[in-house]
Amino acid sequence: MSPQLTEPTATTEAEAPQRTMSKRRFLMCEPSQFTVSYSINPWMHPDEPTDTSLAVRQWRALYDTYIELGHEVELIEPGQGLPDMVYTANGGFVLDGIAYVPKFRFAERRGEEELFAAWFRSQGFDTRMPELTNEGEGDFLLAGDVILAGRGFRSSGDSHAELAEVFGREVVSLTLTDPRFYHLDTALTVLDPVVAPGERATIAYLPGAFDDASRAELERRFPDAIRVADADGDAFGLNASSDGLHVFCSPRAEGFQRQLRERGYEPEPVDLSELLLGGGGIKCCTLELRK
Ligand code: ARG
Repeated sequence: MSPQLTEPTATTEAEAPQRTMSKRRFLMCEPSQFTVSYSINPWMHPDEPTDTSLAVRQWRALYDTYIELGHEVELIEPGQGLPDMVYTANGGFVLDGIAYVPKFRFAERRGEEELFAAWFRSQGFDTRMPELTNEGEGDFLLAGDVILAGRGFRSSGDSHAELAEVFGREVVSLTLTDPRFYHLDTALTVLDPVVAPGERATIAYLPGAFDDASRAELERRFPDAIRVADADGDAFGLNASSDGLHVFCSPRAEGFQRQLRERGYEPEPVDLSELLLGGGGIKCCTLELRK
């Protein structure tokens, strides 16, 4: 009789680990100024029409979902003539009460820098102006005790050293290679915003968006990561936010939602199709404010 040594079976939801939600504090900006009047990423087509009121309704649904689940959401006033300000993830990187302000790659967004800096100051954050080009949490994601940092399209590689200096944390540089996934938060998401010291955060990522060395680094550091299929990446599925239990993600990323359930997370689909015309999604519209 052959022993029970059969093929490894996929984890079923019943055996999936228990996940716990931690209350988050986010910064969002209503897209009342949203339109696509220039193109700074491959998703933006200024010739195609946009519907600002639809963008506002979809954004409002995300806001309401966060509030209903008990999260705190701060709002920053949209700046005149700054249609991309809705993507507040680019408004800074906030950790340990320090707000590191962005320095945008493209002139079209530079008007946002002072507005975000002023907001952080008004809220009592230790607000640091950057020397080097960086686009905030669009490219910098806290994963346990390290900061994963993207480069290749927006934030400069040099900004990673500045980031490490400002926060006194280890920064892991990752190189993005596909222009459609131009910010780290379009290709990688951190599913556990809080982990016990020494524990590893669960992440999900799109392997094809990174160069070989970065992929190897991710495999080494996060052997149990969720690797997401191209179709879900193309649907902007990785531009997701998480409270450790609920994962706010695109309804079109169906395979990713299945993977999340297998790991004990609860997908909370929110459709931001109109904001995708600007090349942004759920995570882009959400900045974490960490004390
Ligand atoms: N149109 C914006 C830009 O190209 C979109 C930013 C998306 N934000 C993000 N965190 N991925 O800068």
